[in-house]
Amino acid sequence: MPESKSTILVTGGAGYIGSHAVLALQQAGYDPIVLDNLVYGHREIVEEVLKVKLIVGDTNDRALLDDLFATHSIDAVMHFAAYIAVGESVTDPGKYYRNNVNGTLTLLEAMVAANIKQFVFSSTCAVYGMPKTVPMAEDHPQDPISPYATSKQMVERILADFDIAYGLKSVAFRYFNAAGAEASGLLGEDHNPETHLIPLVLLTALGKRESVSIFGTDYPTSDGTCIRDYIHVSDLAQAHVLGLEYLQKGGDSNVFNLGNGSGFTVRDVIESARLITGKEIKIIESERRAGDPPALVGSSDKARKTLGWNPQYPDIKEILTHAWQWHQKRHIN
Ligand SMILES: NC(=O)c1ccc[n+]([C@@H]2O[C@H](COP(=O)([O-])OP(=O)(O)OC[C@H]3O[C@@H](n4cnc5c(N)ncnc54)[C@H](O)[C@@H]3O)[C@@H](O)[C@H]2O)c1
Repeated sequence: MPESKSTILVTGGAGYIGSHAVLALQQAGYDPIVLDNLVYGHREIVEEVLKVKLIVGDTNDRALLDDLFATHSIDAVMHFAAYIAVGESVTDPGKYYRNNVNGTLTLLEAMVAANIKQFVFSSTCAVYGMPKTVPMAEDHPQDPISPYATSKQMVERILADFDIAYGLKSVAFRYFNAAGAEASGLLGEDHNPETHLIPLVLLTALGKRESVSIFGTDYPTSDGTCIRDYIHVSDLAQAHVLGLEYLQKGGDSNVFNLGNGSGFTVRDVIESARLITGKEIKIIESERRAGDPPALVGSSDKARKTLGWNPQYPDIKEILTHAWQWHQKRHIN
């Protein structure tokens, strides 16, 4: 808990993970404010649920950032703002490099000009590409497959260079699959378009979608479907608070995986969702997608040891239960 309230700029705070981080910051005694262009974010979540200041604007807008840093006393930045659709990044790479790389570079340059030197960044396990060993640790070789993943790897590189040049200290978190929702149903996942398995399964359970596709049923796994490491969004949010505290205590720039270290197959997730929702979930078995590895599971020992991070919701059933509560509230009526 900070002695006096630090003000933290949360970019992308109207989105899924950013909104949970805003709540975690509030609960830890910080004073978050949100910058979001609302291309994918939800205004009412920031203004009516979290009740924090929302600045509608883009990280590519240097004049807006200079004004923001001149008029608010910002102590550190948590940067969630990015475009996240891996498939779209393959067909429209310019959109991803412009937003995720240029937008971050513009933000970092504005921070340096305003003498703000602490930065917490949303990276991704996708920087590793196809796993050579499972679970993957931070020193696993990197070979990103999509422009989305490459955009995150490029930002990590920029952060290392900004530390050398300007002393800007950063924590980059490589998330595995963010999932679930805040336990009391206040916040949750609402991407449009939705590409993530758990919300797609729950939207199917709610009758908002006809079916859910399983891409590949012949992988070398227990039931032929892909294994992924699902990490509760509130555990991710908590890690961000710990990452910020680490920087505020003088910690050096660092990179951490955030995952549970155990994986579930696509069929495991769908079967658990059937039990939790009590609904039939129609599945369609489809071909494998290019670039989908059989298993993606991360080792987060470093975050546990260095930051004292201890995920509270490692159970996939609890992750699904929280997500189901949110989806019912959000989509019924
Ligand atoms: N969801 C996951 O499983 C996952 C996994 C790994 C990494 N990440 C990363 O976590 C971050 C948050 O992901 P999310 O799932 O919450 O996505 P999201 O789309 O819900 O949130 C991103 C928010 O950023 C805003 N935004 C995008 N570009 C912007 C810009 N240039 N300026 C201002 N606002 C902008 C959007 O309007 C949106 O509200 C992203 O950086 C993403 O790459 C997510």
